[in-house]
Amino acid sequence: MKFSGKFITFEGPEGAGKSTHTKLLCEYLRKKGRDIVYVREPGSTRIGEKIRGILLDDKNKEISDITEMCLYMASRAQLVKEIILPALGKGKIVISDRFQDATIAYQGYGGGIDVKLIKGLGKAVTYGLVPDLTVLLDNDLDKGLNQQGKVKDRIENKPLAYHKKVHFGYMQLAQAEPKRIKIVRQDDDVALTQDKIRKLVDKIL
Ligand code: TMP
Repeated sequence: MKFSGKFITFEGPEGAGKSTHTKLLCEYLRKKGRDIVYVREPGSTRIGEKIRGILLDDKNKEISDITEMCLYMASRAQLVKEIILPALGKGKIVISDRFQDATIAYQGYGGGIDVKLIKGLGKAVTYGLVPDLTVLLDNDLDKGLNQQGKVKDRIENKPLAYHKKVHFGYMQLAQAEPKRIKIVRQDDDVALTQDKIRKLVDKIL
């Protein structure tokens, strides 16, 4: 699919600073006069936010691996159809906090679901949409998982071994697609990290 708009996704293990950096990037691009649509996964549509509630509720511990994967896909299907494709068609820049790579890293590498199955299903729910750029924020896993004062959701509460597998999965994805997926190491200096991100984004606009 070819669009006049651009599709940029942010990925990374827990606490890698996606919300800070997507927010700063949106401000930067809006100041430059760009038309931005910001979304997050799971969620961002009325239906998707309900699905997010089910997925992240720590009480839903009995959720099966396949149910979990299908719910992430369901939220994505709705988001792509309802918001992302129409916005790209109008030439907007869509910035998404997580997308398909997250399901491969978390449910695939972390949860052990066949990656080929995830990719096949993912292609169907996204109509084959692939981001123009994916910023993979990398951080110190322990630091990211143990942010002070934060109440952990169901996924964050999974064991460290799970999150290590997720991290490994993301690194594998970046290695396989170095043109699209750019690793940005989260620096203590937010401005420095943001500067690296802006340079990557400027290149594709
Ligand atoms: P967030 O914390 O980045 O808002 O994302 C919500 C949680 O959902 C986070 O722990 C990562 C997880 N997640 C998956 O496990 N699979 C997915 O496909 C997506 C999009 C998120």
